[in-house]
Amino acid sequence: VDRPLVDRHQRTIKYLRISVTDRCDLRCRYCMSEAMTFLPRAKLLSLDEIAIIAERFIARGVTKIRLSGGEPLVRRDVGDLVKRLGGNLGRGLEELTMTTNGTRLAEHAPAMVDAGIRRVNVSMDSRDPERFRYITRHGDVAQVIGGIMAARDAGLAIKINMVALKGFNEDEIAPMLAWCRDEGFDLSLIETMPLGAIDEDRTDRFLPLTGVFRDLETRFRLERDSYKTGGPARYWNVDGTGTRLGLISPLTANFCEGCNRVRLTTEGKLYLCLGHDDQVDLKGALRDGGIAGLDEAIDAGLYAKPKRHDFRIGEGEGPAVARHMSVTGG
Ligand code: GTP
Ligand code: 5AD
Ligand code: SF4
Repeated sequence: VDRPLVDRHQRTIKYLRISVTDRCDLRCRYCMSEAMTFLPRAKLLSLDEIAIIAERFIARGVTKIRLSGGEPLVRRDVGDLVKRLGGNLGRGLEELTMTTNGTRLAEHAPAMVDAGIRRVNVSMDSRDPERFRYITRHGDVAQVIGGIMAARDAGLAIKINMVALKGFNEDEIAPMLAWCRDEGFDLSLIETMPLGAIDEDRTDRFLPLTGVFRDLETRFRLERDSYKTGGPARYWNVDGTGTRLGLISPLTANFCEGCNRVRLTTEGKLYLCLGHDDQVDLKGALRDGGIAGLDEAIDAGLYAKPKRHDFRIGEGEGPAVARHMSVTGG
């Protein structure tokens, strides 16, 4: 590996998350405001620029790339990007994957498999049509479930991402886990994070996963699983099946010590932490200085990578940063 990516806290960066668009066809209430505005298309990295940056990260030791958004599958040329990045599998890149809301998954899944994607994470906070429509403001859960099943038929392993929300889907967590177990999917539960302004108060909806887990333990046989994806979740095996329950608890169990990731936005900025504003402009560096310029900017970014986020949810606490999850790609 050329110039390994090690930050000031001795953490090695092996995971690059790329937000390929900040746009989304849904408006999940905990994620965006109804009146969310998006970047003009002229400001976005071209497909070629994304690939050049990603390939430089691979040369410098990144082994895992996740495409996210916004909703990655709403970007018109995403199929070409998947294909191009897939060409790096086995040549330094070990895993190419995606986090999607599933609305367009049925259409894209076969090409994703052909490009070398083996598993996807699909966001689905409820399986109830009315609740799903409410939380996403626009979504049709039947379409998402159709996408999930088509992806499975195409050969993709599936993990469902469910943001745990008090008074919204609390009562659906155990049924969702039973459904995932029966369908052969993994489930990750996520604590809501204070990123960007939304139209409601996150305090009202915050559900700590500590209590959720205690309840699940009484209903399922959960055994700690050493499974590691390089992501932030801790995993448990469910009822002796292949299904894994993952907990992503940024508020109740900080995982920043093991942080191995950085994030490329659709505008070409490299964010060093989900919970801080520190960033470097890779698009400008690449346009002005080529690969050498890019390397310098990446090094400057690594030097500035914060030690940890400091998310807080509670009365009087605003968002930790103004930007939304959809800008940095989760
Ligand atoms: P796996 O490869 O399946 O482990 O994926 P992942 O959990 O890394 O990715 P995914 O896109 O499914 O993200 C699930 C949740 O974890 C999202 O809400 C992300 O925002 C959150 N997440 C991922 N990385 C970080 C991180 O570094 N810090 C925080 N606070 N949250 C993160
Ligand atoms: N807090 C926690 N999770 C969020 N997601 C989007 N916004 C937030 C937030 N503020 C989730 C989505 C998706 C994943 C990438 O991030 O539901 O599953
Ligand atoms: Fe779109 Fe995902 Fe945000 Fe929902 S959580 S609005 S699906 S980016």
